[in-house]
Amino acid sequence: MHFQWYPGHMTKAKRQMQEDIKLIDLIIELVDARIPLSSRNPDIDELGRQKARLILMNKADLASEEQSKKWSDYFQKQGYFVVKLDARAKTGMKAISAVILEACKEKIERDKKRGIKNRPVRAMVVGIPNVGKSTFINTYAGKACTKTGNKPGVTKGKQWIRLNKNVELLDTPGILWPKFEDQRVGLYLALIGSIKDEILNIDELSLELIQILKENYTGILKKRYEVTEEQTPANILEQIAQNRNCVKKGNELDYSKAAALVIDEFRSGRLGKITLEFPEK
Ligand code: G4P
Repeated sequence: MHFQWYPGHMTKAKRQMQEDIKLIDLIIELVDARIPLSSRNPDIDELGRQKARLILMNKADLASEEQSKKWSDYFQKQGYFVVKLDARAKTGMKAISAVILEACKEKIERDKKRGIKNRPVRAMVVGIPNVGKSTFINTYAGKACTKTGNKPGVTKGKQWIRLNKNVELLDTPGILWPKFEDQRVGLYLALIGSIKDEILNIDELSLELIQILKENYTGILKKRYEVTEEQTPANILEQIAQNRNCVKKGNELDYSKAAALVIDEFRSGRLGKITLEFPEK
């Protein structure tokens, strides 16, 4: 699903989130592990002040394990609880339940002191489009959970998904916009496929990707496409077109076809586990 954000959308989304946040104890923020900062919303920290915070680094199956570890440390140092995740896989979900309780420990203790027993922790999932919010809710909540409807007498309320005896999840995720005014962020979002390809120049995009790979993942391009990495991205793309037989009518090299191939192989993980931004840079 692709989104076009307008100021009106953003105001509405923000207002909705301000309302929803009042109802919960914990914000579960999904980010894309390949671009952990660029896939965050600039306002979430302000909106989520005073709430327990959990960052799920999703699509970790596509990201560099070494970099994911660094990003995890980076966020933990800032006070977030962090879990790396592949939201499509059922594994790792138990660990999340434990971390949720850990993140909400203070609230649970407070409840206990006040004599409130067994009140479940309430959480909501937030994130920019395409980070895997729906996938996560479906996988985590599964079929076993029960939806708890509105309380009698309350006409307009929220749907909660009861995950287990300790946790309830708001059934609709909060959708936030990325920092799209930042060009670098726009580039990263385009590379992971969160911006419509029709509005992008795939050739340029592939050159940017080749540059990032050349600088940070020595050997990947050589191994996959049998190219010499010590040349300009444009020359590398040319060599890829040759080696992969990307030709147009008249035997002319088809750069766009080669560009699309590289982008596609990156997005699907066939190029390897690649993180595009780095915490120390
Ligand atoms: P959203 O609600 O945040 O907008 O995201 P959504 O769950 O719709 O997920 C967006 C895409 O990302 C989906 O792929 C989904 O399968 C994929 N996805 C979600 N979590 C993960 C993950 O941890 N790893 C990987 N590799 N992919 C993940 P799609 O192409 O839109 O659909 P489909 O291929 O599943 O049919």
